[in-house]
Amino acid sequence: MRIGVLTGGGDCPGLNAVIRAVVRKGVKEYGYEFVGFRDGWKGPLEGLTMPLDLASTRGILPKGGTILGSSRTNPFKIENGVERIKENLAKMNIDALVAIGGEDTLGVATKLDSLGVKVIGVPKTIDNDLNNTDYTFGFDTSVNIAVDAIDRLHTTAESHHRAIIVEVMGRHAGWIALHAGIAGGAAAVLIPEVKFSVDKVCEWVESRFKSGFAPIVVIAEGAIPQDGDMITKDQTLDSFGHVKLSGIGEWLSGQIEEKTGREARVSVLGHIQRGGSPTAFDRVLATRFGVHAITAIHEGDFGKMVALHGTKIERVPLASATTNLKLVDPSLYAEAEVFFG
Ligand code: F6P
Repeated sequence: MRIGVLTGGGDCPGLNAVIRAVVRKGVKEYGYEFVGFRDGWKGPLEGLTMPLDLASTRGILPKGGTILGSSRTNPFKIENGVERIKENLAKMNIDALVAIGGEDTLGVATKLDSLGVKVIGVPKTIDNDLNNTDYTFGFDTSVNIAVDAIDRLHTTAESHHRAIIVEVMGRHAGWIALHAGIAGGAAAVLIPEVKFSVDKVCEWVESRFKSGFAPIVVIAEGAIPQDGDMITKDQTLDSFGHVKLSGIGEWLSGQIEEKTGREARVSVLGHIQRGGSPTAFDRVLATRFGVHAITAIHEGDFGKMVALHGTKIERVPLASATTNLKLVDPSLYAEAEVFFG
């Protein structure tokens, strides 16, 4: 059996741990051969490959990024894209694909599965917004990076008696903001799922100052004010139709200064949240996903995604993970609200 492996979409800590686990289990237990496809769906589309074997996957467990490279290539937006992928897979004698990605990459995998390509999906995204899995790997690392930043921002905010707004990633789902905000003792957490009132945020800011502390407001890049729109960096769309976000933190800091007269600063964490070494939790989760992806291939159970349910890794239909996003439940947000102000 010859298996192609690709990583697509935004990179995320733990991708290399999956690649290593897939190769280690496949070679050692079943004698499978592997082909690494470069840069997401661009690899099978353009026939861009690299060797993937025990030697080339040694030492990569703690490394961030992906040795395969990534891109946001959407073969369904390219003329004859699907035919070209199918032709290349046949030419290279690839029997099955392991696609490691988020909603976009696995959305393509879902469509290719319905067109006869044998594929298994592995859920990755720092955003943790893929449906039908309790967690995606990468999320824990990015939350820990954000919490470390918040801890540091607390001390400088206290010294200068300022409000600091921390903008984190999260386009449609506020998982990173929620977890980092709770763990970092934020005075407010603002997420895309719940439109926020600027006046209410100002009240929370004032009340934190009154208690003798400086407020940290954690805001997801996709958060929306009650009487405004999502703030975007520019209007260019990627091949999956996403605009570039960022700017809401800056906007909110201006509003806080204007309405409260307090000094406010913004810190945009950006791609720092996606870089560097994965946490132990993410290394273990990514490794388990990789091992189970190979078991699924061995059993011929294609069109599935490996998923974490409680402590178990199970298989779910690819479509069940990509049709809807997993958003923050209002009851979880209510738990965090107790600590606002
Ligand atoms: O997909 C994960 C994500 O981190 C989103 O939260 C964010 O909007 C996006 O990636 C930004 O990615 P890039 O800068 O690579 O386009």
